Amino acid sequence: MRIIALTAGKGGVGKTTLTANLGVSLTKMGFKTCVLDANFTAPDLGTHFGLNPDTTIWDVLNSKEPIEHAIYGHDCGLHIIPGSTGVEDFRKDIYKRLKRKIRNLKYDFLLIDTPPGLGDDAISALTPAKEVIIVANPEWTSLSNAYRVYQIAKKMKKQVVGMVLNRQLVHEYEPDGLMIKKFTGLNVIGEIPEDIVVRKSIAVQSPVTLSYPESKAAKELERISALIGGIDYKSSKGWFHNLMKFIGMTV
Ligand SMILES: Nc1ncnc2c1ncn2[C@@H]1O[C@H](COP(=O)(O)OP(=O)(O)OP(=O)(O)O)[C@@H](O)[C@H]1O
Ligand SMILES: [Mg+2]
Repeated sequence: MRIIALTAGKGGVGKTTLTANLGVSLTKMGFKTCVLDANFTAPDLGTHFGLNPDTTIWDVLNSKEPIEHAIYGHDCGLHIIPGSTGVEDFRKDIYKRLKRKIRNLKYDFLLIDTPPGLGDDAISALTPAKEVIIVANPEWTSLSNAYRVYQIAKKMKKQVVGMVLNRQLVHEYEPDGLMIKKFTGLNVIGEIPEDIVVRKSIAVQSPVTLSYPESKAAKELERISALIGGIDYKSSKGWFHNLMKFIGMTV
């Protein structure tokens, strides 16, 4: 099972949006996938799917509740483990406990959404993951924090899959992927445009890869997922699209 944490070093850059959508895309590509909300400060992964869960990962971590009770199946095939707020009881070892609880899960991919910032909770949230994806906006404030978390992830011996640049506006005063790679050494594996449909998809509680699959943002998320899954995106697009069309999931 590939366990990948999505981290940023800064809040509000799109970690949760990416976790939800990469989870959907990997599922659509045939990978058995689960997304887990390990952000106990602002747990909103479930909201992206319209979940109102009775049991969350926080309950599992703080009782004898088995993790299976916190797994919710979505119509698209993705499994979701939602979170709830636990900031008042936060202890660093919670993520060690999480690592033990997920040990026996059987997925191709487990994507972990993490808390914002560079504090104890955000950094120790990387503990259960073997791999890390760094999310950033094309602003220097976001990028400098992304670079800090990159250094920390390397020290923790995590395999850094790369950086995803989210909310790209293509202004000449903002850096693009090539420039970032040159200055940080970080591989930029995707550049998702600023796209109003992303906000709309959150409003309808259906990730953009499901609600607006033909949008530029959804296409780029799909391409990133193919790259993570080791699938040739161009050649897979034909049969995948045809299959989705055949089963009525796209036009
Ligand atoms: N590509 C995009 N285009 C437009 N809006 C976006 C895009 N990506 C994310 N957003 C918006 O940005 C906001 C923040 O996104 P999100 O909640 O995923 O960030 P986060 O990093 O998980 O935040 P936090 O650190 O609070 O957990 C959301 O309201 C979402 O609608
Ligand atoms: Mg979030």
